[in-house]
Amino acid sequence: AIGVTSLLSSSGHITYDPGFMNTAVCESKITYIDGDQGILRYRGYPIDQLAEKSTFLEVAYLLIHGELPSKTDLDAFSARVNRHTLVPEGFRTFMGTFPVNAHPMAVMASAINALPTFYPESLNPFDEETVELATVLILAKARTITSYLHRRRNGEPLLYPDYSRGYVDDFLRMTFSEPYQAYETDPVVVDALDKLLILHADHEQNCSTSTVRMVGSSHANLYASIAAGVNALSGPLHGGANESVLAMLRRIQSEGGDPAAFMNKVKNKEDGVRLMGFGHRVYKNYDPRAAIVKKSADAVLETLGKRDQLLDIAMELEEIALNDEYFISRKLYPNVDFYTGLIYQAMGFDPEMFTPLFALGRMPGWIAQWREMINDPKTKIGRPRQVYIGEVERDYVDVAAR
Ligand code: ACO
Repeated sequence: AIGVTSLLSSSGHITYDPGFMNTAVCESKITYIDGDQGILRYRGYPIDQLAEKSTFLEVAYLLIHGELPSKTDLDAFSARVNRHTLVPEGFRTFMGTFPVNAHPMAVMASAINALPTFYPESLNPFDEETVELATVLILAKARTITSYLHRRRNGEPLLYPDYSRGYVDDFLRMTFSEPYQAYETDPVVVDALDKLLILHADHEQNCSTSTVRMVGSSHANLYASIAAGVNALSGPLHGGANESVLAMLRRIQSEGGDPAAFMNKVKNKEDGVRLMGFGHRVYKNYDPRAAIVKKSADAVLETLGKRDQLLDIAMELEEIALNDEYFISRKLYPNVDFYTGLIYQAMGFDPEMFTPLFALGRMPGWIAQWREMINDPKTKIGRPRQVYIGEVERDYVDVAAR
């Protein structure tokens, strides 16, 4: 195993495994990844089939409950989520108190953390019906919270949900519509966003998901655990990468649009520059999600008439990387985030909204993983060991004598 050291301590052997490169922390039936072959399956179903044929709420049900729902079950689940999309007035006021230019990920984490203060009846982690209520509340409110994050940045009020519309369709209406105006969504955009949410819905024990499990292992409630996951996702090496990819593409464009020159900087590791949206801890082959997103990016940008130089720069970077020894030898391929920012931008989202959109998609995965963890009799409170390398015992020195 790479990077693993086994050490003998007073209480037996300790494995030193920075970044958990080789340490499995749980058994799971939810998501299967084969990083060498570029395979991703949710509950056994290949990701490309789900992206092509399913919908976000159906995939949420599948991840959380383990099986594809019957039509009756799916209708009931969707209707229940829809019915809960309205947020309490006090909650809206709370979200409205953050500065307009606050980073939406900070507001999102705070909002998820604050949610159960309005629903104290949804907190018992060991009662199945209560956990199902919390599940529905999180899926429903996350949609409203995300749309309001966008509107707040533009100084616009929260819109009321329309229970007659679908999850993604109404999310887009609540995000982009003028108050009291009819709003028709473009089916190509609804379909593309639905696909993106499906592709982000789970990815086994990544940084944010293991955070959710770790926090939940102390029997902290589902909301507190997911708020921690949102914070973990905010980092540029994780969910924040989609925002960084667009910044990188814009930077290349503003510096004269020369991808080859930028790639030389990456390879020479100048100022620690990395090709954002490339590389993955598990995929040492093409990320199967990236292939689906790339196709979608082409279609959406063409349909919306928003195809611009940034997509060409991205494609050129990928072309260079796929033929360059630096990237080939390190098995660096585009990950899911390489093309998502371009789609979100074409849809009308600011870069700061890209990671909240990732979080909206990841909610079902976090919920499913937390529920699996809490119901697994083998779960123990997460408590890693360490290898102490500090001072040995020494005597306190009075401040006057230091
Ligand atoms: N650009 C250039 N070089 C890279 C990149 C990159 N994007 N990623 C890895 N490398 C190089 C490293 O410099 C290192 O080279 P070295 O052996 O000469 O030192 C080698 O590849 C291995 O890299 P590690 O950082 O050890 O790989 P690790 O598995 O720890 O990191 C990570 C994975 C964080 C995703 C990394 O590839 C990265 O920083 N990518 C860019 C950020 C990104 O796109 N993150 C999104 C991840 S997917 C997601 O969260 C949905």
